[in-house]
Amino acid sequence: MPSPHAPLLSPSLLAGDHAALAASVRAVEDLGLSWLHVDIMDGHFVPNLTFGPETLAALRRHGAKLFFDTHLMLSEPHRYLEAFAKAGANLISIHIEPAYDHAAALARIRALGCRNGIVLNPGTPAEAIEPLLGQVDLVLVMTVQPGFGGQAFRPEMIAKIRQIDAWRRERGLDFRLEVDGGIDLANAPLCRAAGTDTFVAGTSFFKAADRAAYAAAIAAL
Ligand code: DX5
Ligand code: ZN
Repeated sequence: MPSPHAPLLSPSLLAGDHAALAASVRAVEDLGLSWLHVDIMDGHFVPNLTFGPETLAALRRHGAKLFFDTHLMLSEPHRYLEAFAKAGANLISIHIEPAYDHAAALARIRALGCRNGIVLNPGTPAEAIEPLLGQVDLVLVMTVQPGFGGQAFRPEMIAKIRQIDAWRRERGLDFRLEVDGGIDLANAPLCRAAGTDTFVAGTSFFKAADRAAYAAAIAAL
């Protein structure tokens, strides 16, 4: 049985040209895509640094209409929710691993007018987020250890995706189920069969010889 949602591609800006982010956004929009994945790293929760709220705000000022799927890889995400909502985020996803009031942060994201998401690292069991499933718009299963683009997909994450999809069906929930890390046209069908409906792709999308064909292949899953 397919997921309740049609497959959707969320290209990751991390793999775009950081000196020409607006051009990368336009390239995504010109393909008729609707989502853009924006990776925010703090050099603490993950060993890398990327963008801040001002980056999103600037992209909006440059006319970006895309749905900003904002992935916060921060040790204290609850401190930055308002800033990202104001800057133009449409969805804000936060990790389960750091210690803070996850339920309160998820509720706050919705109160700020955004959709919310909960994220799990490869080493985190599905059970860690299970109590929150009724309160989220999206679950993001990391298929690499977060921090860098261009890493290899971890096939052992398929079982976790399947488990979360099973809970979604049993409980009649309709959150989106997203994968992020090492996704390409070879492993995306395996993720789809396990219940994924939302596909983040950085390297494989931006380096594709034919991005339109890449996007069409995801849409056809
Ligand atoms: C990794 C980020 C990903 C990254 C994916 O920490 O969360 O969104 O951009 O890049 P690829 O698709 O190259 O693995
Ligand atoms: Zn990401």
